[in-house]
Amino acid sequence: MNDKKFISVGEPHRLLTPGLTLLISTGNEQDDNLFSVAWNMPVRKQPPMVAILCGKRHYSFKLLEKTGEFGINIPDHNLIDEVIGCGKTSGKDITDKFDKFNLTRKKAKIIKAPLVLEAIANLECRIFDIRDMGTSALITAQVLNAVVDEKHFKNNQWIFENGLQLIHHLGGLDFCISNKKIKSTYNS
Ligand SMILES: Cc1cc2nc3c(=O)[nH]c(=O)nc-3n(C[C@H](O)[C@H](O)[C@H](O)COP(=O)(O)O)c2cc1C
Repeated sequence: MNDKKFISVGEPHRLLTPGLTLLISTGNEQDDNLFSVAWNMPVRKQPPMVAILCGKRHYSFKLLEKTGEFGINIPDHNLIDEVIGCGKTSGKDITDKFDKFNLTRKKAKIIKAPLVLEAIANLECRIFDIRDMGTSALITAQVLNAVVDEKHFKNNQWIFENGLQLIHHLGGLDFCISNKKIKSTYNS
């Protein structure tokens, strides 16, 4: 442990990520969009609430402000190219990212924004607060409904025995995956 070498880090957020990388779906029947989000976290258990960071210049930001809702779609390793695609292009230039990246709209139960069928989990969220953070906004939202592929989630936990590979963004085109459970032997 003592011979660990420390380096100075230019972008400290790169140490705090990777969390799960998400595809956020926004809009309604008239106009919808998708964008990728690495900066996200749960913020409350009851009622369940989450937070995401959204650039204020993103096309999606206007849709989020207008509709007050969004979908969280959790991709696995099969969707990394779609995640990069949705995160490198803007709805300002592309009218239909679902079509462009061969993703299928799934009707949500409560919100108007479509969900992504190919994702392994979908959460429907209603915005609680939009906090100005300069070039981006911290958006907190209540989760109204959540569904997950039962093959990958049991007893309230992700399970990996059926080949699940969750993706975490390292930067640029690079991701790492979580695909294995380990257990603490801590005994109080
Ligand atoms: C892997 C990945 C993660 C990203 N994470 C975030 C994020 O957490 N917050 C954010 O505002 N933008 C993030 N972006 C950038 C947006 O997804 C990107 O600017 C997107 O083009 C915005 O789309 P829109 O203009 O159609 O809304 C990320 C991009 C990639 C590729």
